[in-house]
Amino acid sequence: MSPMYIVMLGPPGAGKGTQAKKLAQELGLVHVSTGDLFRENLKNETELGQLAQQYMNAGELVPDDVTVAMVKERFARPDCEKGAVLDGFPRTPAQAEALDQLLETFDSEVTVVPLIKVPDEILVERLSGRWMSPSGRVYHEKYNPPVVKWIDDIDGSELYQREDDKPGTVRRRIDVYNEQTAPLIDYYREKGLLAEIDGTQPIEDVFAAIMASVEEV
Ligand code: AP5
Ligand code: MG
Repeated sequence: MSPMYIVMLGPPGAGKGTQAKKLAQELGLVHVSTGDLFRENLKNETELGQLAQQYMNAGELVPDDVTVAMVKERFARPDCEKGAVLDGFPRTPAQAEALDQLLETFDSEVTVVPLIKVPDEILVERLSGRWMSPSGRVYHEKYNPPVVKWIDDIDGSELYQREDDKPGTVRRRIDVYNEQTAPLIDYYREKGLLAEIDGTQPIEDVFAAIMASVEEV
């Protein structure tokens, strides 16, 4: 089987990270989240982290050249040759073209693009109740609570709330998605790769719908 490259598309809070982690585990692929990579750089106080922070906290996108360079570096690691679940990348038409070129160098291409659709009112509630583990596992105080409050189920680390999950920043992130990322919906639809998923269902049902779209490829 040729390697699969699955692009998770959808607004902030749609469930990209939640589903990407499950998919990667189920299919034995790596999970590549540009948001997680930026947050890792932030925590390690790298130059890239410092640069990204100002954009992230404002709810704006990190510039394309910086983001694409980071993804290229990640793809240079051999684990990406077997395929990947991409979460939060691409986010602009320029990034989508850069990804196509990058996969071409592997003699590969994007396999399928699940679009997780969730109305704006629900996004705000999901993000304000989200708790994250330092390694990027995602919880929700109501919809996906950890066994012990504020503690990661797997490694026991302390959960935190993201700086950019404040209501004002969330609203800006949704606008940025509509302005800069939503054009990718047509981009992938025209290539016949888009699979529209109802993201308002429970997590397991969303997962089943995404798996069905992957198996159809
Ligand atoms: P990033 O980390 O990618 O954030 P995002 O796209 O805004 O998406 P989120 O992570 O907020 O949401 P999600 O869809 O992953 O939802 P989740 O599964 O957590 O990016 C952050 C920032 O980094 C950007 O703003 C930008 O500055 C920068 N950046 C990143 N990539 C970039 C790029 N390519 N170019 C430029 N800049 C970039 O779920 C949300 C909550 O809902 C959780 O609490 C979860 O438990 C809950 N939930 C999930 N599914 C369900 C369900 N079915 N029912 C009920 N609750 C659910
Ligand atoms: Mg995420």
